[in-house]
Amino acid sequence: MIDRALVDEILARTDMEGLVGSYVTLKRAGANYSGLCPFHSEKTPSFTVFPSDGSFYCFGCGVGGNAITFVRRIENLDFTEAVSHLARRAGIRIPETTLKSAAPKYDKNRFYEMNTKAARFFHRALFADTPDARAALSYFTDKRKMEMATVKHFGLGYAPNDWSFVDYMKKEGYTDEELIVGFLCGKNEKGKLYPAFRNRVMFPIIDLSGRVIAFGGRVMDDGLPKYKNSSDTPVFHKGNNLFALNFAHKHCADRIILCEGYMDVIAMHAAGFPFAVATLGTAIRPEQARLLSRYTKKVILSYDSDEAGQRATDKAIALLEEVGLEVSVLHIEGAKDPDEYIRERGADSFRALLGESHTKFDFNFNRILKKYDLNIPQQKIEAIDALCGIIAGVYSSVEREIYIAEGARRLSVDPKNLAADVAKKIAIRKKNASRDEAKTAREALGGFGDRVNVDFAKMPRVARLEETVLGLLQLYPEYRTRAFGVPLLSEEDFLTELGRRVFLFIKESEESDGFDAAMFDTAFTPDEVGRIAGMRVERLRLSDNSTAVFEECVSALKEAVATEKKKDVPPSFDALNDLLNRKRSQT
Ligand code: UTP
Ligand code: MN
Repeated sequence: MIDRALVDEILARTDMEGLVGSYVTLKRAGANYSGLCPFHSEKTPSFTVFPSDGSFYCFGCGVGGNAITFVRRIENLDFTEAVSHLARRAGIRIPETTLKSAAPKYDKNRFYEMNTKAARFFHRALFADTPDARAALSYFTDKRKMEMATVKHFGLGYAPNDWSFVDYMKKEGYTDEELIVGFLCGKNEKGKLYPAFRNRVMFPIIDLSGRVIAFGGRVMDDGLPKYKNSSDTPVFHKGNNLFALNFAHKHCADRIILCEGYMDVIAMHAAGFPFAVATLGTAIRPEQARLLSRYTKKVILSYDSDEAGQRATDKAIALLEEVGLEVSVLHIEGAKDPDEYIRERGADSFRALLGESHTKFDFNFNRILKKYDLNIPQQKIEAIDALCGIIAGVYSSVEREIYIAEGARRLSVDPKNLAADVAKKIAIRKKNASRDEAKTAREALGGFGDRVNVDFAKMPRVARLEETVLGLLQLYPEYRTRAFGVPLLSEEDFLTELGRRVFLFIKESEESDGFDAAMFDTAFTPDEVGRIAGMRVERLRLSDNSTAVFEECVSALKEAVATEKKKDVPPSFDALNDLLNRKRSQT
């Protein structure tokens, strides 16, 4: 492990405002700084940097921690990598041996190599002399009308409908665990490995350094799921990558086309538009928007023409504008997606389409004009209302003025009235904005229940009290002394799995080197570190953290735990089976 004194020194020499400031525009807010959270989508700043202790916390989505946590998240690094990154930035050299012994659980290079071997296997399999392989190749070249050069350029492949892949990869020396963790194989109930992709045409996903990091596999008929994609692995995180960015990044300084599907991107590249990329089977995420902003100035959205595609377009516009990108939208009419459009109308038509890609305002305005019949008064009122809603969402007041003039002209209404309605909408939005943002962000991050503390929903009262006590323990050494010295608290007093782990971590570190919040990153995931920081920040917001409050919280926790333990424990599975068997033998 990297030793703690070194970590502390690196953190001490890291200026948190400077570090965060290179990703987020920060404004001073009293002793702290605030800005728009880089980890969720928001319009009012709830992301806060506390220079006093070098921490950050987002009151909207609950991410938080110190410089290490920040770098882990924003650069998608593991603990050791994040520490090295900060050391480099601070001009501190980490001894080579320290880094070696602190090797992360998985050797990423092995995974890159394993994926490359797999990609070569799939590619070779596409040209095998078997009926299956011939059918797969003909899927690309005949059904999807691809040139052979395109098939090779993208390294497309075929995952055979047998177990040869497993045999091959094992012969190459990969362990069951590596194959499973790398999402190339699964294990059946009998403990036998099977290939994750079978009888699918394969699309390798390649990162900017040219390494194969994941795969998408498509069925060749109407089977489901249509596409199967790698889940997250040690070398792949969906939200941080875009399909074909490895090619597009050289051609996209001025503009990039963002589309939905692998096939759309391939069709565009083949037709002479090598600056197209696609999100990977999901709606665009904030990290992907940020990634795009590093390579281009302008994004041309080219999603499917169906309803889902149009909804996704709305979302993408908001996310992309937040990272400062100019956005325009392509109107694809008469085809369901860019791939089909290019196949049916040819590259030149598509080029013309690109030339006339509408601005986002036009896109929205045209949609309104199509939806409402302006000759019917009630519908005209609704159209005006919808238009005001769109203009109210525009950040720049100059732009708003232009749209108001344009909208008033096309709807034949008085621009003054339109402006007044827009102003009303803006006022209402401001009021609702921060509240709604925080709520959606928490929902998005916490999922339906609570992904970070999975036991929260089961025992919310206990969980809340645990968080209070753990917040106080982090902040005040005197409470730690009392809690562990007497001892006032033991691990039995914590029922949620996360609460117990945090308690033990604080206790054990206090009893060895002395507790240090900076070390949470060595033992917890970034999401967990965020939650732990939240416990601390919640307490800091309150003025009364006196001994009396601490004692009250501890006894309330103990009581809540006792009540929880008394609750009827549902019979275990075995007990249930016993019961059923007994009933059966009686009848
Ligand atoms: P589409 O259904 O629009 O597919 O999904 P497509 O790319 O046009 O594919 P073709 O033309 O029918 O071959 C768009 C993207 O959504 C993801 C894939 O990344 C796909 O390219 N997707 C779709 C999945 O991840 N899983 C699915 O089951 C379907
Ligand atoms: Mn398609």
